[in-house]
Amino acid sequence: MAEVTVFGYDGSPLPSAVSSATLLVGGARHLSAVESSAERVVMGDVGAALARVTGHNGPVAVLASGDPGFFGIVRALRRAGVDPIVQPAVSSVAQAFARLGLPWDDAVVVSAHGRDGGLRRAANICRAYPKVAVLTGPGAEPPALAAALEGWSRRVIVASRLGTPEERLTGPDGDWAEPNVVISLAGDLSSGPAGWLAGGVRVPDGWALPEDAFHHRNSMITKAEVRAVALPRLRPAPGTLVWDVGTGSGSVAVECARFGAAAVAVDRDPAAADLARANAARHGVEVRVEAGAAPAALADLPDPDAVFVGGGGPDVLAAVLARRPTNVVAAFAALEPVGPAADALAAAGYATGGVQVQANRLAEIAGRHRLAATNPVTLVWGSR
Ligand SMILES: C[S@@+](CC[C@H](N)C(=O)[O-])C[C@H]1O[C@@H](n2cnc3c(N)ncnc32)[C@H](O)[C@@H]1O
Repeated sequence: MAEVTVFGYDGSPLPSAVSSATLLVGGARHLSAVESSAERVVMGDVGAALARVTGHNGPVAVLASGDPGFFGIVRALRRAGVDPIVQPAVSSVAQAFARLGLPWDDAVVVSAHGRDGGLRRAANICRAYPKVAVLTGPGAEPPALAAALEGWSRRVIVASRLGTPEERLTGPDGDWAEPNVVISLAGDLSSGPAGWLAGGVRVPDGWALPEDAFHHRNSMITKAEVRAVALPRLRPAPGTLVWDVGTGSGSVAVECARFGAAAVAVDRDPAAADLARANAARHGVEVRVEAGAAPAALADLPDPDAVFVGGGGPDVLAAVLARRPTNVVAAFAALEPVGPAADALAAAGYATGGVQVQANRLAEIAGRHRLAATNPVTLVWGSR
């Protein structure tokens, strides 16, 4: 087996050890930085390049951008049975934050490479988190990412060709170039608190939170027991987008955001929209709040992965289903809409189910225990 050394490249001069390799593998940009008469394989087709690496008899130098152990070639080499020596350079993400003079232990880093929804996932991470670096790729170029963030208050900075003479920081409409990293920032993040866990992705320390964890009025809040049943069916997670339609206090949207999902809270009542904003701030999560009546208020929103319908008639559910979310949960206090909602979900091709949730909470009566009934709510859901 060939001895393989992976050299990270960040614009700094490469170590002289590169020139002792008899096979050089890397992108055209990287290979042009090396003067040597070694055989060269320009990396485009990774599989073909790996076959050349494993079949080579002699020292191999693989050149890759930044830290090759970070969203880089080291994983593919190991999968091909190679046990490489790695000499990393500074990752493009570290360089980009350094150029901005910002700490980044609290940043979420997302790769938009890959065909399976790379742009969508990356956009949802930028919508859900205040400090994000995106490794951009084909189909997820800076303007597409910036367009996906319309409606969210974000500063989008494109760091192009870091470590080269053409290095520059621009906006997404500016003179950016490949390769680039996009930094998405909400608000002034220059002096956030010091943490202890790198990466910025949240795991909630609890869910189905009690009602008193939210500002609400007139008991217009989805009760904790109902949220406990609805949340797992919405499957909120980093990279997904959840709409909470008829948000009331915003409790469902906030809980989804606590799981790392991007969340949009919609309510026709401006007071409810204010409550949802206040609750998002109270829980330190990003929720886009739209004060407007559904279904019209849904028209310009990006396609959701999951929708909680806490208010609105059959026209709202129909508008939701037209956007083909993977998971839908609708909550009803009245019985009449339950059957038609289940029928509408089934007709739209969803596997449906439902349950009535009626909880009796342990309470106190004159020093003894009693059960305090909460109002029954029927949940109807569908997944596809
Ligand atoms: C496969 S990832 C490799 C990341 C690399 N291992 C690192 O640590 O920077 C490729 C992505 O890295 C980013 N990238 C690599 N080199 C860059 C550079 N010189 N300037 C800006 N971004 C760069 C781009 O987002 C590119 O699409």
